[in-house]
Amino acid sequence: MGITISMDVLLVFALLLLNADVGSCGCFKRIFAFGDSIIDTGNFRTGSMWMPPYGGTYFHHPTGRCSDGRLIVDFYAQAFGLPLLPPSEPEEKTGQFPAGANFAVWGSFALSPDYYRKRYNLSTDHGCLDSQLGSFKTVLARTAPGKAATKRLLSESLVIFGEIGGNDYNSWFFDPRRSRDTPHQYMPDVIARIGAGV
Ligand SMILES: *[C@@H]1O[C@H](CO)[C@@H](O)[C@H](O)[C@H]1NC(C)=O
Repeated sequence: MGITISMDVLLVFALLLLNADVGSCGCFKRIFAFGDSIIDTGNFRTGSMWMPPYGGTYFHHPTGRCSDGRLIVDFYAQAFGLPLLPPSEPEEKTGQFPAGANFAVWGSFALSPDYYRKRYNLSTDHGCLDSQLGSFKTVLARTAPGKAATKRLLSESLVIFGEIGGNDYNSWFFDPRRSRDTPHQYMPDVIARIGAGV
């Protein structure tokens, strides 16, 4: 499908410690995460990551992670003494997510499908940053309604932003019919979108 994840590993994780004091005492109550396959713990429901050998070395069965073992976000959760971060998708409409939620989706783009359709006649149907943030806002509105409650909840939360943006470039780099110069045109928009998201 022209989406490859290998370049993602070249990109850097942006870790946002929304409240550094809480972080330094090791007492985050929950984690919220956004990104693509590098951090998705099971939101992408179909694909080879649901088949062996994925999951083989730690979970001993496939979990939807693009790894044979844990992802970096799993190590964060364990380091903070939290449960492994659940994917948001199955319970997005109803879940309370006491230990947080992972909104990351395999193959996700930073820029929206609309952007690529209008500009490049390119169909990107793997999700994007805006849809992840939209889901996050829906969950926040349900689990911590009102400005004060939302603020309190976020002050106790670790928010992990990324990796995201690799897929915005992958499809151009791995398809020989496409010019590698094209990503240079829209790279500022990718960066601006990620910045605005943060
Ligand atoms: C857009 O892409 C589709 C196939 O992906 C193609 O059929 C169509 O001709 C393209 N439109 C333009 C304006 O290039």
